[in-house]
Amino acid sequence: MHEEINPWSSQAAPDAERIFAEFGIEPLGSLADRIRDPPPFFRRGIIVGHRDYAPIAAAMEQQSPFHVLTGFMPSGHPHLGHLMVMKEVVWHVQRGGTGYVAVADREAHAVRHIPWDKCREFGKEYLLCLYALGFTGTAYAQSTNEKLKDLAFEAATRVNFSDLSAIYGFSQDTGLAHAMSVITQVADILYPQLDAGPAPTIVPVGVDQDPHIRLTRDVAHKLRMFTVEQREGLVSVRSKEAPAEALQAVADAFAGSRQYEGHVDVPGGDLAAVAETVRSIERAHGGFGFITPSSTYHLFMPGLQGGKMSSSVPESSFSFAEPADSVKKKVMNALTGGRMTKEEQQRLGGEPDRCPVYQLNRFHVAEDDCELAEIREACLAGRLLCGTCKKQTYARVNTFLCDFKERMDAVRHRVEDVYGPDTQ
Ligand code: TRP
Ligand code: SF4
Repeated sequence: MHEEINPWSSQAAPDAERIFAEFGIEPLGSLADRIRDPPPFFRRGIIVGHRDYAPIAAAMEQQSPFHVLTGFMPSGHPHLGHLMVMKEVVWHVQRGGTGYVAVADREAHAVRHIPWDKCREFGKEYLLCLYALGFTGTAYAQSTNEKLKDLAFEAATRVNFSDLSAIYGFSQDTGLAHAMSVITQVADILYPQLDAGPAPTIVPVGVDQDPHIRLTRDVAHKLRMFTVEQREGLVSVRSKEAPAEALQAVADAFAGSRQYEGHVDVPGGDLAAVAETVRSIERAHGGFGFITPSSTYHLFMPGLQGGKMSSSVPESSFSFAEPADSVKKKVMNALTGGRMTKEEQQRLGGEPDRCPVYQLNRFHVAEDDCELAEIREACLAGRLLCGTCKKQTYARVNTFLCDFKERMDAVRHRVEDVYGPDTQ
């Protein structure tokens, strides 16, 4: 059996390249060049891999419909480590995507044993951040979305326990609610298409979430009534479990088509056009017509103290409601890529690629590319020393946080639209 990526482990992030090759994630490569006016996470090589991003890039180019969805587990305060995905979602919405955010309270309750009132409290904080960053669209909590739960049940008809043990290493001891939270995440990823109709859906995540993406892509395919494939000189539409009337409707839709037991051939048909017609026939007969969802994978910012960034290691990150002096202390005490002595650093230069302070600038607080390049060059040349660099970095962090807090105050009322006013 292959080594699994475990989405719930607090171990160091697995080696991205090996994982990519093993699980068939594509490196971003030249797809990045297709993006007009790319945001920092594309320009700075933070998004490194994808599955089927091409249909999303095409939808942005052609201004055709697409969806963007991600989810957050409300098991603690949102912090620096969540900011990248939030920015990715907001950017895709700004580029024309229909936005969705799931608060994964079922997962937090099942896997992390977070009480419901805490799920609600943390969930609100996540939404506040998202709205402050400019998110518009649908936000929901898993536990109160009835359509989502029905979709999860339907998805569960296509998954068995051996799938779960192969993908997640689930065993006899795995709780049933844990398994239910997995299928709920599958439903999250398909939900935009249920809610707003089939369209390419981009799910920005860290590579730790890839097992869920793989499972969802598999389920999306299994829930289809038909497969549509290009063959030599024809498009073949094969029924997997379509009702007879639906297959008949496919045959009737294409003049000159040939109908056989369980499939229809469309000679000279255009693959994309046939696929779209078949999808609407499927939907007219009660099917979902899901388009297999796409994903991007971003690098993780290292913890400020080195090591992994995690809410269970307070000095590795800061939250957005944290007092300024505490944030300042964490930045000033951060690990750097600096040398042992001042003299040595002036002579050899620092090592920005190994430096969490530099990464903080690269991921979030140095907005201008020239400014970032200047930090890097000055560090490498030994002109910039870590004390000064940290002070300047903290000033940027502080500007960012002050502005962010102001924006959060301005959108607080919108969180109530999702959760209702607090009654306690
Ligand atoms: N499992 C994710 C986490 O641990 C949260 C999540 C729930 C999610 N549903 C999702 C992520 C849908 C992406 C898409 O953070
Ligand atoms: Fe890191 Fe700045 Fe020191 Fe360079 S000068 S190693 S970027 S803290």
